[in-house]
Amino acid sequence: MSKVPSVIDLFAGGGGLSLGFAAAGFIGVAAIDCDQSAVDTLRDNQVISPPVIIKRDIRRFGPKAMARRLENLPKNLRRPSVIAAGPPCQGWSRVGRGKLKSLGRLDPSWSPMRDPRNRLYRSFLGYVSYFKPEACLMENVCGMATYFGRDMAAEISSEIAELGYEVKVAEIEADRLGVPQRRKRLVFVGLRDDLGMRFTFPETPPEDLKPMSRCQTVKDAIKDLPRISAGQSRETIRYRLPESRSAYLRAVRPAWMDGCLTAHIARWHRREDIESFRSMAQGATYLDVPARLRRYRTDIFHDKYRRLVWNEPSPCLTAHLSKDCYSHIHPSQSRTISVREAARLQGFPDWYVIKGSMGDRFRLIGNSVPPLAAYALASRLYMILDGDGKGKSSWRELSNTARGIV
Ligand SMILES: C[S@@+](CC[C@H](N)C(=O)[O-])C[C@H]1O[C@@H](n2cnc3c(N)ncnc32)[C@H](O)[C@@H]1O
Repeated sequence: MSKVPSVIDLFAGGGGLSLGFAAAGFIGVAAIDCDQSAVDTLRDNQVISPPVIIKRDIRRFGPKAMARRLENLPKNLRRPSVIAAGPPCQGWSRVGRGKLKSLGRLDPSWSPMRDPRNRLYRSFLGYVSYFKPEACLMENVCGMATYFGRDMAAEISSEIAELGYEVKVAEIEADRLGVPQRRKRLVFVGLRDDLGMRFTFPETPPEDLKPMSRCQTVKDAIKDLPRISAGQSRETIRYRLPESRSAYLRAVRPAWMDGCLTAHIARWHRREDIESFRSMAQGATYLDVPARLRRYRTDIFHDKYRRLVWNEPSPCLTAHLSKDCYSHIHPSQSRTISVREAARLQGFPDWYVIKGSMGDRFRLIGNSVPPLAAYALASRLYMILDGDGKGKSSWRELSNTARGIV
């Protein structure tokens, strides 16, 4: 077993998974993604350290190439304890299926593997097969489980099992793990057969975040943020930490942070949209917008607009936020959510810098594994891999370390 549990993150995106693993005490030894803003984000936040951060198409950068890049690291880091991955989900998502159907591309010989995006998980298998880590973990949308009648969850599980792993697969619900958002995702976890261990999925946040076991709400996550108007574009604004902080606020905004708030920037909207938002109560959707203000068909776009509810978790954030944010209208202000609000609803701490244009940042956030959910999963793995759990870290410790980074 490697001495210090370590992880390589494939399809690392904005680093939601990596951040959760770092909080649990793993050393992030490497990450790979083909997107510039993802790679810039991973570099800036230093949760991969020593930083082997690779901007490549993984289909052209296999495990052998990665092993060569790790040769300069200390010996105990050259072979990761965990390979983690969050391959793109668009090919498996229900929205993607609707499009396929409407394009009439389905024929009897059709297979999900015809979509090249659906074959990318095989890169994960290639890395697992080469490095033979103690554990492997892959996250994807629940749509991956059954795809046009094929039990993909069973097929993928048996592919991982054939590499010598005891595999568990489950749908995890982020709102049970401290994330103020309804988000279900499919997670595969493999433990190498020779470990003789079984993985059990977490159903509550780790011990240090137990005060967050109650379902976290939009109010817990963003109520403290200053009021802004649609189109607010100043990257840094003044901020005052409320005297009494919710457990959630303590997790995402450590007290050492100064009076500056970053990325509280929001999209500009047409006057008609602002008028529509004003007409909507909390929880209202496009169907509730008065007919005179509508500009989309209500049969297709019935939930195109949705106003958040203060006392509930947010609906799922997706990469579609990069196109428009109508699915997440602020509960009481006439605008869609800001980048900071999206990051808060996804469970990114305020010190974590997400790079790129406004659209890039919304995409990286919507695509990410909520770091708090990743932390819960990674903590379970850490306890299996580190035996006595002595090196186990915590969310708070990571926040304190971050003080030296930002
Ligand atoms: C669902 S996101 C991963 C999110 C990440 N796990 C997190 O927690 O933040 C998928 C990522 O795969 C990347 N990607 C897609 N195709 C790729 C390829 N061929 N090679 C490398 N990265 C790829 C995308 O740029 C995207 O950032």
